[in-house]
Amino acid sequence: MGGDGKVFTLAEVSQHTSNQDCWIVIDGKVYDVTKFLDDHPGGDEVILTSTGKDATDDFEDVGHSSTAKAMLDEYYVGDIDSATVPTKTKFVPPPSNQTQSNQNKSSDFLIKILQFLVPLLILGLALGIRSYTKTPSS
Ligand code: HEM
Repeated sequence: MGGDGKVFTLAEVSQHTSNQDCWIVIDGKVYDVTKFLDDHPGGDEVILTSTGKDATDDFEDVGHSSTAKAMLDEYYVGDIDSATVPTKTKFVPPPSNQTQSNQNKSSDFLIKILQFLVPLLILGLALGIRSYTKTPSS
């Protein structure tokens, strides 16, 4: 096939997501893998689920061999306009909520106190009942 330096938008690439017409984006390059689908050792379904988006991570995560990487050239049709590819979502930790954590701390403290007091109360109660119900020895 051989790419002729064409630049596609992600929207254009997303028009080719079926097993009759399948393009994928890996490392900023666009590949028409329609003819390869049946021959893919990992099956056609995995490739089809990687269409319409940047499939670089999917492709890399599998740990494809250098032979697999070399095969890509054969299906190259052009480049992707990177401005049309959404940037990867980074993990943003939720803002630390000070009030929340203070509340947690005070309830932790309360639980500790109760853990200490409740057995003492039970013991005191038991001793109280015992001395109350004890029949005088003489
Ligand atoms: C044009 C693109 C692709 C080519 C040329 C290709 C090629 C290959 C080749 C040659 C293998 C055999 C193992 C190896 O040599 O690494 C393989 C396995 C595999 N590929 Fe791909 N692949 C492509 C895209 C994808 C994509 C987008 C996925 C999506 C996750 C994928 C998933 C897999 C899986 C899961 C296997 C493992 C199969 C197994 O071990 O049973 N491949 N691929």
